[in-house]
Amino acid sequence: MLLQLSSWPEIDAYLKRSTGILIPIGSTEQHGPTGLIGTDALCAETVARGVGEAAEALVAPTISVGMAQFNLGFAGSMTLRPSTLMAVVQDYVKGLARAGFERFYFVNGHGGNLAPLRTAFQEIYAEQSLLPGANTTIRCRLKSWWEGPAANALRKQLYGTWEGYHATPSEIALMQFAYPNHIKSAKLGPPVAAVNDAMIEHGGDNYFDADDHRRRFPDGRVGSDPSLANPADGKRIYDAAVADMTADYRAFLAAS
Ligand code: NI
Repeated sequence: MLLQLSSWPEIDAYLKRSTGILIPIGSTEQHGPTGLIGTDALCAETVARGVGEAAEALVAPTISVGMAQFNLGFAGSMTLRPSTLMAVVQDYVKGLARAGFERFYFVNGHGGNLAPLRTAFQEIYAEQSLLPGANTTIRCRLKSWWEGPAANALRKQLYGTWEGYHATPSEIALMQFAYPNHIKSAKLGPPVAAVNDAMIEHGGDNYFDADDHRRRFPDGRVGSDPSLANPADGKRIYDAAVADMTADYRAFLAAS
């Protein structure tokens, strides 16, 4: 059930049975020579819609542009500053909370969003704690689609160390499954190895500015070999991610 394809009376009716909502959040940034620029947003949206169907849950409009300043050295990449993204997340949550939503489950597709999102959640809770009479019922949860037990095991099994950290074969495969008319090909050189494991996708402390990033990762990949991706793998990864996140979403609603 998509918020943007619903009417307000339908949302009123939904709120009588659930106060939960799924919010896909990704990024619009280069994904190597063969990856779609929208990969992170479209992966999060694809998985969130699958979870929405499985859990009969509402899915909000995707936050498609994330915190990706380090990729601005590649044409077509977009970013929100961390402070802008935090403001967007707070406005999404507080605006929906006014209508009665209380449980906000962010389906994430981009490591660079993790720190701003976690801080935005604390800003929301700080308001609940500091302001007399504030709404204190809001709870947020952040999960990346690849981190559940089934999806994480599968991508390691399929690609091993060639999964890498960015323009990963798992996300490229998921896109090939979801958008089969947009599969790209290009001759890839050998992958540039990641500097260290602390650089988990784009979220590590070793990411600096855009010029530095382009110098270190000239074709945009970070330790990955996306040529291993295929649409059949993408279907398996999709099924695993949806199952993982549906279980986690249900647990989130039940626990809080
Ligand atoms: Ni990505």
